[in-house]
Amino acid sequence: MRKEGNHNMKQKLEQIKAEAMEALGGVSASDALEQLRVKYLGKKGEITAILKQMGGLSAEERPVIGQLANQIRAEIEQAIAQQSKRLEAAALAARLELETVDVTIPGQTRKIGMKHPMYQVLDQIKDIFIGMGFEVVEDREVELAEYNFDKLNETEGHPAREWSDTFYFTEDSKILLRTQTSPMQIHVMERQKPPIRMVAPGRVYRKDEVDATHSPMFHQIEGMVIDKGITMADLKGTLSQVARQLYGEQTVTRFRPHHFPFTEPSCEMDIQCYKCHGAGCSTCKGEGWIELLGAGMVHPKVLEGCGIDSSVYSGWAFGFGLERLALAYFKISDLRLIFENDVRFLEQF
Ligand code: DAH
Repeated sequence: MRKEGNHNMKQKLEQIKAEAMEALGGVSASDALEQLRVKYLGKKGEITAILKQMGGLSAEERPVIGQLANQIRAEIEQAIAQQSKRLEAAALAARLELETVDVTIPGQTRKIGMKHPMYQVLDQIKDIFIGMGFEVVEDREVELAEYNFDKLNETEGHPAREWSDTFYFTEDSKILLRTQTSPMQIHVMERQKPPIRMVAPGRVYRKDEVDATHSPMFHQIEGMVIDKGITMADLKGTLSQVARQLYGEQTVTRFRPHHFPFTEPSCEMDIQCYKCHGAGCSTCKGEGWIELLGAGMVHPKVLEGCGIDSSVYSGWAFGFGLERLALAYFKISDLRLIFENDVRFLEQF
């Protein structure tokens, strides 16, 4: 019976080993591996159970079985350690695979905005005037009728003062949204002694219905030079040079007589059509010329009203609509596109 016990226990140990090795070979997760460790080597494990039975063995048999049990436990421990290493390596490899960065995948591009085409033109115009020693000034859009009209020699009864054309804030027609940038002439002359060289871009407002060429809000640039001995020749020379810098060296300008209350004499400046060079085409509507701006010699009444002695000083001024200029510059057919800010439109410039 003792011999049989010995034999049985040996067999049992060998069987445990075979089973354990097989189970370990097929293990694929670390928690399953831990379960196997507990099953075979744990306190209530199978090897421990065998060792607990050793009390029934003879003194000779005990060391033999004990040695065998320890050896098998060591082998199983080793196998577990090996599998544990293998599983760790596999897990690492899987994580690396998962976290691989494919540098060939196109990145998410950020949309970068750009300057509105009209402000691109404005920047160019400012640069040209700054290069000629002009100062850029900006000021209020809510204006007194006194500055928008009276001090510019647009007296009571002038058609531009009509309620139907102007956004007034008050019943007495004294406060309004400026209808032109020309009041900037007055502000600058009132706070600055000549010599003056300034340009003043900004928004202006008129009661116009929106269509392809009109908007109740649009932009103008005003400009003015006041000094001793300034003549119409300075006006023509300077504005022609600006046109050449804006539209190209070969640009031809012409000046036609006109009327503005705040200048005397007054004129309008055209440029010869940059597309057909005067022959007449769709860009210039068959005229051969494109109207660019209004200008003139600052009226002595306007100078005197600002405390500038018109017998000592003279000057010239101009004003034009920025949208219209940008439309022509970029060959855009509809004013509304300038204000709608559709990105598909803006991206083209
Ligand atoms: N203020 C005028 C307008 O809105 C434009 C203008 C014409 C401005 C002649 C000037 C000028 O300074 O001299 O139509």
